[in-house]
Amino acid sequence: MAIERTFSILKPDATRRNLTGKINAVFEDAGLRIVAQKRIQMSRAQAEAFYGVHRERGFFNDLVSFMISGPVVVQVLEGENAVARHREVMGATNPANAAEGTVRKMFAESIEANSVHGSDSPENAAIEIAYFFAGTEIVG
Ligand code: PPS
Repeated sequence: MAIERTFSILKPDATRRNLTGKINAVFEDAGLRIVAQKRIQMSRAQAEAFYGVHRERGFFNDLVSFMISGPVVVQVLEGENAVARHREVMGATNPANAAEGTVRKMFAESIEANSVHGSDSPENAAIEIAYFFAGTEIVG
């Protein structure tokens, strides 16, 4: 299996509750290496562009407002099959449907405040990583 990279966000509900270390431990225990990480406050324009694919959906404004409601931690994770592995340990979008042991089962508050974001494909991972990180900030 080839080594792959994925993009991850620890959302404002996670930073507010001081859960970044606990969530990172889940990722590391799953074989994912944090090869870039920074804590930022997203602007509304930045969040709207990042979630642009969801612009027509009913929850778009709520999602953007939530994502700028506090700091987030943006990350690049590296490992075997990293996109799928990361999505597996994040769990289902709605914590009510998330499997035992997943980040969202353990920590998410709601479908909106669901603690983590992860890329859904290697192609989108590359786009999302480039949106937040310069190549020199990623140290594998
Ligand atoms: S899709 O079509 O599979 O990409 O959609 P989904 O993964 O379910 O959701 C995409 C992102 O929208 C967030 N989401 C919501 N936010 C607020 N309110 C509601 N009702 C809601 N439903 C979905 C969801 O957490 C996803 O955020 P990211 O950051 O991409 O994980």
